[in-house]
Amino acid sequence: MSDNREQTRDDQTDYIPDSLREHTFDGIREYDNRLPNWWLAIMYGSIVFALLYWIVFHTLEIRPTPREAFDRRMAAAQEAELARMAESGLSDELLLMMSETPTTVAEGRNLYDRHCVACHKDRGQGLVGPNLTDDMWLHGCAPMDLHAIVADGVATKGMPAWMNQLGPSRVSTVVSYVLTLRNTNVPGKEPEGEPCR
Ligand code: HEC
Repeated sequence: MSDNREQTRDDQTDYIPDSLREHTFDGIREYDNRLPNWWLAIMYGSIVFALLYWIVFHTLEIRPTPREAFDRRMAAAQEAELARMAESGLSDELLLMMSETPTTVAEGRNLYDRHCVACHKDRGQGLVGPNLTDDMWLHGCAPMDLHAIVADGVATKGMPAWMNQLGPSRVSTVVSYVLTLRNTNVPGKEPEGEPCR
């Protein structure tokens, strides 16, 4: 029995007793023990990981951030969907979908700035041509209605036909931008035509 006790004490020679720090706050004392290695490994590991993450994603931008990767995949999916729909020909749905695709809308805006601003003004509020931002339309408000007017024009009223000059793809692109102007209600030329139904 006594042998046994000796044995236990020997085994514990490398046991380091809790050490207490000097100070006392309201009678509370603090241990000053060494943190376990697994804990330190996690802490230093996190610091190294955070540094590498920052350098790779933010400083050198070697890899896209998860947010950018997500946006890219969404844009790619949207473009694939557009291409699929375009195969079955022009439709209200296709034009609407184009008007929700940022890259297409940006291209459309460029075309608009170059070719349409003179008569419809920078935000579509109208000058010679009608206000494109209100809810009133001379020739209908459906995407295909706008497409028809932009493609064929209204010769007698001074709206040029754009199909020959821009070609089918750019006509659709500029229409997709005009669709984003609908109901933005920029004060400008008085409403003309019929309310959108
Ligand atoms: C030379 C001036 C002029 C230019 C440039 C012009 N438009 Fe027009 N646009 C008009 C006029 C005028 C009308 C009204 C036609 C009518 O009274 O029937 C019109 C009508 C429209 C309509 C139909 C509005 C409605 O109420 O139904 C759309 C859409 C339109 N234009 C888009 C465009 C786009 C897109 C471009 C550029 C690619 C463009 N226009 C360039 C003068 C112009």
